[in-house]
Amino acid sequence: ISQNTLVLLKPDAVQRKLCGDIIQRFERKGLLLSALKLLQLTPEMAAGHYAEHKGKPFYPALIEYITSGPVVAMVLTGSNAVKIVRTMMGATNPVDALPGTIRGDYATVMSCNIIHGSDSADSAAREIAIYFTEQEIVQYHLED
Ligand code: CMP
Repeated sequence: ISQNTLVLLKPDAVQRKLCGDIIQRFERKGLLLSALKLLQLTPEMAAGHYAEHKGKPFYPALIEYITSGPVVAMVLTGSNAVKIVRTMMGATNPVDALPGTIRGDYATVMSCNIIHGSDSADSAAREIAIYFTEQEIVQYHLED
């Protein structure tokens, strides 16, 4: 069953010019780009995106980091896209992310971990709506 998932290339990915490389990994894997934009998050958008982390010790730093510069938001589409993106990203803590994964190859600390991907289909639907209108998302009418 084809799924949509939301991927965010965080400010450190943009600053380090890793966006092309990371997008290429997803394209080569076989996922489709259904929407793509570069934007700087407002504190309100960041709070909406990370609502589940509100009150946690790392929350203020997380909001400051994610709003510190432009990010690239995209919708990726394909069979099991949510799980596939999570696997390709590697563990949230780059210390545990295996070589060959995105965080395993490019990140060292959890507070600057390069990329975000939705953790479920429900999260994906909620997060996609923060970044894109329905008109901005391409429909491929895939077979599966
Ligand atoms: P992300 O997948 O974007 O979701 C929440 C983010 O919070 C996570 O990636 C990390 O970048 C960040 N973060 C910082 N510290 C922690 C922590 N101790 N536990 C979980 N996430 C953290």
